[in-house]
Amino acid sequence: MSEVQDIEYDMVILGSPNWYGKPTPKVIQFIRQYEKALARLPLVFFFSCMDCYQTKKIEQPAVYCDSYFKDQIIDSKKLSSWEKSHAVSTYLNNLNKISNTLNIKSIAFFKGRLNFKKISFFNALVMRFICLINKKIQPGDYYKQQDVVEWSKELIPNT
Ligand SMILES: Cc1cc2nc3c(=O)[nH]c(=O)nc-3n(C[C@H](O)[C@H](O)[C@H](O)COP(=O)(O)O)c2cc1C
Repeated sequence: MSEVQDIEYDMVILGSPNWYGKPTPKVIQFIRQYEKALARLPLVFFFSCMDCYQTKKIEQPAVYCDSYFKDQIIDSKKLSSWEKSHAVSTYLNNLNKISNTLNIKSIAFFKGRLNFKKISFFNALVMRFICLINKKIQPGDYYKQQDVVEWSKELIPNT
């Protein structure tokens, strides 16, 4: 991202780890810096995250959830506070709060990696606490390349 100067593309595919429901500060800064250029272009956004829920309501833009999350479809009225904070609609709202001119055509969620040794002491402490209270969230490497490949084929049908 630091090498990007002008965004002269047909579309933009931008991704980030989920940090408390939002992209990382570096990605947030990128979105703010290129807000005008991004507003003109179709944007595909993806999160690597530990959890994600879809509500039964059909979401716009197109949503892709990887094989860990694809069956996590819940009635929006029955979401727990954890589920609500990890719902597709919440992720989208948080992106729109960063820039309300984003032209998000598609959003994807992939389960990623959680390694306490690779994050700051404070964030490791918070994440350890989350793992303690939510047994579903545990450190590990959950990345599945196959899901990313499948998604990319959906995105660009002729490849
Ligand atoms: C600062 C920080 C905040 C995070 N917040 C959440 C969170 O709110 N919910 C969650 O499920 N995972 C959270 N995670 C876990 C990351 O989303 C997960 O580790 C992500 O897959 C990392 O991306 P990577 O696999 O591309 O490295 C957080 C991780 C960090 C370091």
